Amino acid sequence: MTVPLLQVAGVAKRFGRVVTARDVSFEVSAGEALGLVGPNGAGKTTLLDIVAGTRRADAGSVVLDGQDLTRLGAAARADLGVARSYQVPRPFAGLTVYENVLVGASFAGRRHGGDTRDRAWHALEVTGLAGAADTPSGSLRLLDRKRLEVARALATGPRLLLLDEIAGGLTERELPQVVGLVRRLRDDGVAVVWIEHVLHALLDVVDRLLCLAAGEVIAQGDPHEVIRSPEVVEVYLGSTVDSVPGESA
Ligand SMILES: Nc1ncnc2c1ncn2[C@@H]1O[C@H](COP(=O)(O)OP(=O)(O)OP(=O)(O)O)[C@@H](O)[C@H]1O
Ligand SMILES: [Mg+2]
Repeated sequence: MTVPLLQVAGVAKRFGRVVTARDVSFEVSAGEALGLVGPNGAGKTTLLDIVAGTRRADAGSVVLDGQDLTRLGAAARADLGVARSYQVPRPFAGLTVYENVLVGASFAGRRHGGDTRDRAWHALEVTGLAGAADTPSGSLRLLDRKRLEVARALATGPRLLLLDEIAGGLTERELPQVVGLVRRLRDDGVAVVWIEHVLHALLDVVDRLLCLAAGEVIAQGDPHEVIRSPEVVEVYLGSTVDSVPGESA
């Protein structure tokens, strides 16, 4: 059996009286995509922050490829191959698309030999942004801002990619492009954790699904089993379960 690339064990986190993680454990292998769902405020983004190292957990551990990251900061984790996108895209608006991605590529480059500019261009090509390389990022439409978030993360040459709601706000015509991109990265051997409320897009690509509610894992495993489980229907899906494509009666 292969050892999972990412092992998160017993993570706990609270902000005052708000518990955002209670004994959260999950694993992701290279070439595997895990979907992360749950109601607003469930603790999904906070969990991503804890894996990326931008927030410290109160308890628990984060291990990448057998190496304990728990006490490392975000920059050290990025160097080891952890990359993330942000729920609210925040490019350097005054820089062009290429320049933004180059910034990503120049961080966390130490694991790679190779030319930083080549990695930046590769990330632009993979995300379909090469044609917009010289566009000021401040003037991008939403789909391209989302792609830029992914491109910036990709330019660091990640082994683990953490995506926070990259499909929200996109049109039905745009969604397949984002889904295709995630599938391609996963198939290239990247381990992906994708938080997403656009369930049908998520279910198009993820291998496993984890549902978080009030900081607790209420179900994880086969995506279609998870979304059918009574706990998940009750706290997250409610009556919308019938609207999930392929899940309707
Ligand atoms: N810095 C903070 N200080 C205090 N409370 C916080 C802080 N960050 C997050 N929280 C609280 O922690 C809880 C979890 O927030 P989080 O952003 O992780 O949720 P989420 O699952 O990503 O939600 P959404 O689907 O709306 O993005 C929320 O109740 C939020 O208000
Ligand atoms: Mg969030």
